[in-house]
Amino acid sequence: MILELKNISKVFSKGDGISNINLEVNEGELITLLGPSGCGKTTTLNTIGGFIIPDNGSIILDNEDITNQPPEKRSISTVFQSYALFPHMNVIENISYGLKYTSSLKKKQRLEVAEQYVELVGLKGYEREHVGRLSGGQQQRVSLARALITRPKLLLLDEPFSNLDAKLRVKMREELKELQRKFNITMIFVTHDQEEALSISDKIVVMDKGKIVQIGKPSQVYLNPVSEYVASFVGMSNIIEEDSKKKIIRPENIIMKKDNNGEWEIINKIFMGHYMKYNISDGCKSLEVICSGIKNNYYNLNDKISIDIELSNTI
Ligand SMILES: Nc1ncnc2c1ncn2[C@@H]1O[C@H](COP(=O)(O)OP(=O)(O)O)[C@@H](O)[C@H]1O
Ligand SMILES: [Mg+2]
Repeated sequence: MILELKNISKVFSKGDGISNINLEVNEGELITLLGPSGCGKTTTLNTIGGFIIPDNGSIILDNEDITNQPPEKRSISTVFQSYALFPHMNVIENISYGLKYTSSLKKKQRLEVAEQYVELVGLKGYEREHVGRLSGGQQQRVSLARALITRPKLLLLDEPFSNLDAKLRVKMREELKELQRKFNITMIFVTHDQEEALSISDKIVVMDKGKIVQIGKPSQVYLNPVSEYVASFVGMSNIIEEDSKKKIIRPENIIMKKDNNGEWEIINKIFMGHYMKYNISDGCKSLEVICSGIKNNYYNLNDKISIDIELSNTI
């Protein structure tokens, strides 16, 4: 284990913040903190980075208690949503900057090392460019290289791709995952985007109102959510009451069949590109159903249908 958070709490003046955060991170893992805005993701990350000192609890990094250490003493780098680059410096100067204080390398050597990181993040040819002239995606690459060059034990990323357009966001997260695998970098990634979390994480930590509510592999969190909150935050789900218990049914696990005697009826149909989203009703309950592939345009509004539920969870 490289990082352990033991019972971390931080309460702000209005009573919000985080409470009793317990988390273990193994070396080389990519852990994602996932939850809606205000649930305490940044606060948790900031206690790890040293920008916030927790009220209670301790933080152990590589067997050392760092709870009260200032940020610059911790072997941790952070990548922010806003890039936070030095605007008066060019790409290579931004990237090599951290080495000035963390290594005994001479300027020429620092620039040589920085060259490797420029290449690693795909910015070859942009070394002398001023960062203000780069696109958002390129600026975030500089920020990533600047964070990695000091070879931190831990890399923190706070919604790093949220300012980028959808396509670039997907490309950047794939590249990040590749870097993490190739160099076995331990990362804690913060996002409110469930798709982003599902696609890159070794483990997802789902948060709600300052607390951790579930920790698991993406497939565990998706297939076995512990609560209605997790089920509805991670993916789409139908939640129905049955025998005073709640049943969670994912829309892709409902199989529809045209049936003139069926109890269900198609009441809405939305074309989503690679899938069709249907709403069906039996006059009292309504469910969301997803069909992809050749079946996706098979049903019409007001069709009578019967259904099979292939998989569901009771909570
Ligand atoms: N410096 C601060 N002072 C007062 N309240 C804060 C401060 N930072 C965060 N909060 C509050 O703590 C809660 C969690 O915030 P934050 O960790 O930023 O959430 P997230 O990153 O998940 O959106 C929010 O209600 C926020 O308003
Ligand atoms: Mg935040």
